[in-house]
Amino acid sequence: MFIFKNNKDLLLLLDSVRKNKQTIGFVPTMGALHEGHLSLVASAKKQTDFVVTSIFVNPTQFNDPTDLLKYPRTLENDIRLLAQADNHLLFTPSGDQIYPKGFNKNRVFHLNGLDRLLEGEFRPGHFNGVAMVVHRFLELIQPDKIFMGQKDYQQATIIRQLIQSEKLPTQLVMCPIVRSQKGLALSSRNTRLSPQWKRKALVLHQSLRFAKAAILQKTPIQQIEEEAIEKIKSAGLNPEYFTIINGSTLKKAKDLRENLVAVTAAWAGDVRLIDNMLLLP
Ligand code: PAF
Repeated sequence: MFIFKNNKDLLLLLDSVRKNKQTIGFVPTMGALHEGHLSLVASAKKQTDFVVTSIFVNPTQFNDPTDLLKYPRTLENDIRLLAQADNHLLFTPSGDQIYPKGFNKNRVFHLNGLDRLLEGEFRPGHFNGVAMVVHRFLELIQPDKIFMGQKDYQQATIIRQLIQSEKLPTQLVMCPIVRSQKGLALSSRNTRLSPQWKRKALVLHQSLRFAKAAILQKTPIQQIEEEAIEKIKSAGLNPEYFTIINGSTLKKAKDLRENLVAVTAAWAGDVRLIDNMLLLP
């Protein structure tokens, strides 16, 4: 596996990949890799010839500086996992490669309001920072496809919007959520959950499955949301939202015929978890 830190080395190699008529798949990450990330690499390997994974803890998407400092950094283990997964190139740039002197970090991306809903209400500016770093990577790498997890459904939808509004020649592939055997969606944050909280947090998946079954029985949306919130509370978690949305606009769904997705965020002790489920077959 190639490991590059500099844009120059990266661009030189990608040039020869393109000259060989190979397609490029890109998996952006912030490290602390788990099976969820590796499933993105596996999909990228199936669908493209040459897979670039990035590890960059992006400062512009953290609204709380202590969160940025606390973010787990496990580079040695990440390199081992990516090598085992036969990833072709790991790009681990330093801050000045991504945001060189003079780079406009105040740029506001037009994301059709998608960045202000749901997670955006609780994390102002977060998605603009995500859009900024992904846009920068897409400009540098110019991949044929970018692979992102459904676990961060809103993030992937926003990047799809970014690609469309910036007219970038990359296709977004949203890959399914990877769950533990019992159903907990894999996340770097799960390492901060005690065994008791891990058990209690299973209620998120259970409430999403409940919503899916209730939708199939044509239960009114508001009733489903209220019952799901109650389930989450009675398991001891503190829910921020459980909402059934239109999967394209991310707005609250009004009609059972829309492209429905249930999304939720809740605190398990001091760890904030998110999860979601596509509700229609
Ligand atoms: O999902 C993440 O890990 C990050 O938000 C991403 C897409 C790598 C951008 O920094």
